[in-house]
Amino acid sequence: RPSLMRSASQALRRRRSYSSASGQPERKVAILGAAGGIGQPLSLLMKLNPLVSSLSLYDIAGTPGVAADVSHINSPAQVKGFMGDDQLGEALEGSDIVIIPAGVPRKPGMTRDDLFNINAGIVKNLCTAIAKYCPNALVNMISNPVNSTVPIAAEVFKKAGTYDEKRLFGVTTLDVVRAKTFYAGKANVPVTDVNVPVVGGHAGITILPLFSQATPASNALSDEDIKALTKRTQDGGTEVVEAKAGKGSATLSMAYAGAVFANACLKGLNGVPDIVECSFVQSTVTELPFFASKVKLGKNGVEEVLGLGQLSDFEKEGLENLKGELKSSIEKGIKFANEN
Ligand code: NAD
Ligand code: LMR
Repeated sequence: RPSLMRSASQALRRRRSYSSASGQPERKVAILGAAGGIGQPLSLLMKLNPLVSSLSLYDIAGTPGVAADVSHINSPAQVKGFMGDDQLGEALEGSDIVIIPAGVPRKPGMTRDDLFNINAGIVKNLCTAIAKYCPNALVNMISNPVNSTVPIAAEVFKKAGTYDEKRLFGVTTLDVVRAKTFYAGKANVPVTDVNVPVVGGHAGITILPLFSQATPASNALSDEDIKALTKRTQDGGTEVVEAKAGKGSATLSMAYAGAVFANACLKGLNGVPDIVECSFVQSTVTELPFFASKVKLGKNGVEEVLGLGQLSDFEKEGLENLKGELKSSIEKGIKFANEN
């Protein structure tokens, strides 16, 4: 009888963690800031992802409406909305992935670092809750300035004793999305075939697209073209901020990029081999403690942080030029987390 009970409880556990319909492991994804400009379309895209079985939408306001709306879509993910501090724990509990687009966006004339004073505190509080309620979740940090919010998250998790560098990601996928789009336009190659690694960080000159490694390769591009493509990728966020003229920053392309990155994390967790995306992670690729580069994703999050490969002289110069700013943004985040 004890063995019968054991096998019954094992079967129950199996049933709980595997969806009978798809044969995929059950996966809970939480979005913090789900009622915002990024949060809403990202909630939509994650509801459409067949790898998601439970979608938890958290914000300080507005989530009941977003959750009710998204929940009517006839896809498998079960949607629940959570609002306010009291419900944050329940929103997070059992999450496999937590995506964080909570915080204020830029207006014209601002840098991402100008958001630090407000967003650093928001990220710190949310990460404190993650350490308490879902310490094993992969964290996809979208809130700016990413170059500082990722180090803040790391410090919060270290203090809580839950830090694992394999589970913390700064989402830089939008830089890759932009680099692919701009390169395809200029090189006149099919955009869906294009790959471009983007390394460094996620602000201005810290964003370093490696067009020398772009595929399909193009010999139609001059040095001036590469310079212009690099600058447009670095200024992509500002291009959107200015076009929106005070109504915020990229939301739709960011939601797309966030959904691409979360999908890669889900595939990695589910054991799909050879999943590689660029991300801002703890790193030994350079002397900086955090750096964006290609990352292989696996069952525990980061499986391997890949090196930079061969750089052109122009890219080598860009790499040296970005280190000062990236270092001070990282240090600013660490200092904040330890002093507040
Ligand atoms: P938004 O103002 O439209 O939405 C932000 C949401 O966060 C709001 O709904 C707000 O209520 C919520 N929020 C605020 N404090 C919160 C808290 N403590 N807990 C939970 N939710 C909270 O802004 P947005 O356009 O969605 O941008 C969000 C952030 O993403 C900004 O910091 C922006 O700079 C950043 N961003 C990053 C990238 C990237 O590539 N990593 C791209 C675009 C935007
Ligand atoms: C982006 O790259 O679009 C985001 O970081 C938002 C911004 O402020 O530019």
